[in-house]
Amino acid sequence: MWLRLSVLSVAWVSTPRALRALDCTGVEEEGVRWDVIRSELRHALREVHHGALARDLHAAKDSKGRDPAVSYGDVQLQRHLERFQKLVLVLPERSRCPLGRHCLRVLVSVLYSGLPWNAWFVRYEEDLLGLVHGTNWTEALAAGWPVFEVMGLVADLYGGEIASLPENCDVESLAQLEPLIGQPEQLTTHAAPLLRHACALARAAASAALTAAGLRSGGNALQLGWAPGLDVGFLAQTQTAVRLVAGRHTGGPKAIFTPPLPQLLLRVEQANQKYHRAWMRQGRVDIVYCGSLPIEANLEELCKGIQGECLIHFQLQETDAGHRAPECFEHYRSVGQALQSLRPMASWTTLLVSSGTWTWTEDLAHDLRRLLHERHQAAREVDWAGLATINSSRIFNWPVRRVTHKYWKLAYEEYATGHETSPFLPLAQFWAVGDTTSGTRVYGTKSFVGLMRRLAEREREYVPSLPGFASAGVTRQSLEAALRSEDEGAEDWLVMLDLLGKEMGLRAYTYLNGASLEQNYQAGARLTPRISRTFHIEAARFLQGPPLEHCLFPEIAAAGSFTHSHGVVVSYCTRKSLWRMFRDVGGWWLQMNPLQHIIVPVSASVLNLYRSGETELFPWDADIDANFIASHPVVIGSLLEEHEERLKRMGYSYILRGDRVVFRTLEDTARMDIWISGPQEVRAYDIRARLCGLRVNFFRDQLMGAVWYYRPGEKIYGHTRGQLLHCQWRQHNACLPDCVRNGLGVGQDGCEFSDRFVHLFT
Ligand SMILES: *[C@@H]1O[C@H](CO)[C@@H](O)[C@H](O)[C@H]1NC(C)=O
Ligand SMILES: *[C@@H]1O[C@H](CO)[C@@H](O)[C@H](O)[C@H]1NC(C)=O
Repeated sequence: MWLRLSVLSVAWVSTPRALRALDCTGVEEEGVRWDVIRSELRHALREVHHGALARDLHAAKDSKGRDPAVSYGDVQLQRHLERFQKLVLVLPERSRCPLGRHCLRVLVSVLYSGLPWNAWFVRYEEDLLGLVHGTNWTEALAAGWPVFEVMGLVADLYGGEIASLPENCDVESLAQLEPLIGQPEQLTTHAAPLLRHACALARAAASAALTAAGLRSGGNALQLGWAPGLDVGFLAQTQTAVRLVAGRHTGGPKAIFTPPLPQLLLRVEQANQKYHRAWMRQGRVDIVYCGSLPIEANLEELCKGIQGECLIHFQLQETDAGHRAPECFEHYRSVGQALQSLRPMASWTTLLVSSGTWTWTEDLAHDLRRLLHERHQAAREVDWAGLATINSSRIFNWPVRRVTHKYWKLAYEEYATGHETSPFLPLAQFWAVGDTTSGTRVYGTKSFVGLMRRLAEREREYVPSLPGFASAGVTRQSLEAALRSEDEGAEDWLVMLDLLGKEMGLRAYTYLNGASLEQNYQAGARLTPRISRTFHIEAARFLQGPPLEHCLFPEIAAAGSFTHSHGVVVSYCTRKSLWRMFRDVGGWWLQMNPLQHIIVPVSASVLNLYRSGETELFPWDADIDANFIASHPVVIGSLLEEHEERLKRMGYSYILRGDRVVFRTLEDTARMDIWISGPQEVRAYDIRARLCGLRVNFFRDQLMGAVWYYRPGEKIYGHTRGQLLHCQWRQHNACLPDCVRNGLGVGQDGCEFSDRFVHLFT
């Protein structure tokens, strides 16, 4: 509805004091998440205004504050309200989101306090006035805060009588505003004079009615991402006038509850929601599929149920069914990139249909339609959503996993009891939450495009930092050349989306009703060079079984210098190859003569005793130093020559440097320095321990000497002049613990990893 109201554009110009900008989205304070509170307030208020609770409230009004939860059967709502009561007690006194605090306190006070107005007002004045004077209504409505519904509750209990208004406010004609909301022409005629009325209440009521009718003063429609379409000018006028009513009338702030003002404000709220819904419906849905099923017509059928635009990005897989299809990877990826150039609105949705879909049925179409609908309903809370899955053996597969991406490793793990529960109470019963969901999934297009952008950033930041990247100018082509490989499948694309989603803090919701008919993409996923280089992952475990590996550092020197310059854990492959070499070559030495040969770790390798347990090395060390000692005479040169073939078969070679032997893998991915000597008194090394699963020996003074020399309680890098561990690449998955805290001392993590995930997969 668009009506030019030239008479109105001159009306009542004023420049109100600027209001504090709303700062609630994504804010968490002392365990209170304001997004969650907003969503629950809306949910509870729906019940309060339209559900069974409305009746109880009126009863409560008569009986002076009967606890509404007592007579209301819905346990969930009851829990809700109980939680509100508890939350009110722990709300931060000074919050970044005062609006949330005010709304919650007012709601709970109205439902439970049972106080007469005067007593109520003394206690809650700050909150009420915060809603009127401290909150920018334009922003609050756009962000979905139910300000007017909360105020409407107060009016419900404390409004009613025409308070002692100044004479000039005794306006009969205000009562006619609400019935005229559906008739713009008449409303305009009726309201225009009221806009200039001397009484602020009349001005407030008139501009509220015009706002609720969706009329335009010629200004802009409300547009803060959610673009519902109320007129910003009228809304601001309404607020200005209401602030005057609250401040100037002799009836005091209670005057704002004079009829019909509260009712008109509720109509504004309803109009806002109506616009919002209409606008959401006008959205656009992009359906993306690549695979071996010829289901283009079925996807078009799916489109028919959708209001607004519906676009299908369909590609039939050319290679044999059941194989990983590079063209599908490319298809999903290029659609993502294309969406990125569109500046999507918050109402847009992208449905990825997994290429692992093995059949199309009416049930599947129905479940997908419902998934789209349910996500749409919860669009503010749910960034992406999927379903449980059934594979072609008709086996039910629960797809929700925890995704851990740390220390060059990636692991998909089952949750101990399936999934997390949504913190949004209205979503708690029919949704499961986790780090990932099915391959067929719905994204808010805006979030999806956010993932694409993050991916591009990641490629530019992470890929060129690795050895082997020709660093002469990072271009799109050079990046793509470093990333491309033959065998990329659509499954890998889904894994990349999982990783990006996790990184951006988006939770995956799984709708518990219905199922996607697809093969498990996690079973088909690989650790491709692209995933490995873009996300700095060297080992991945998607399901059970041995981890998949892809190494990023061809030489130990490069891995070591990466660790020192960025403050990260030594690369997985480097540590693994060092570990294996020590175990193999050390094992070779011990087996040669179990009674007369021992291994004695020296220099920093002694510190493994204190740090790494029996089977690992401490993860910022890319080095092993040890003595191989025999109780009989040893001639190193001839001994090694004699065993050269054997060592080679095990995958190792050596360089002799005087009495020191440098063992290395044939590919030179790892090296270690070993001093071989004999005869020596091996029995003097009478303290035993294990390192990388091998028996090693020490003597007492050696341990004390190492402790005095290294003082290993503090954790420092090797080869630096005593630098304490700290990460210099913020957000890198392999960041070392913080032992420095910008010079302030040991960090929050206590200069230690939070668990043992950093170690090699076993
Ligand atoms: C309220 O917020 C809107 C949108 O951010 C802004 O344009 C307007 O100036 C604000 N109003 C006041 C009075 O601060
Ligand atoms: C279906 O899932 C089960 C259990 O995860 C698995 O053992 C089976 O191989 C799967 N079938 C196919 C065709 O992938």
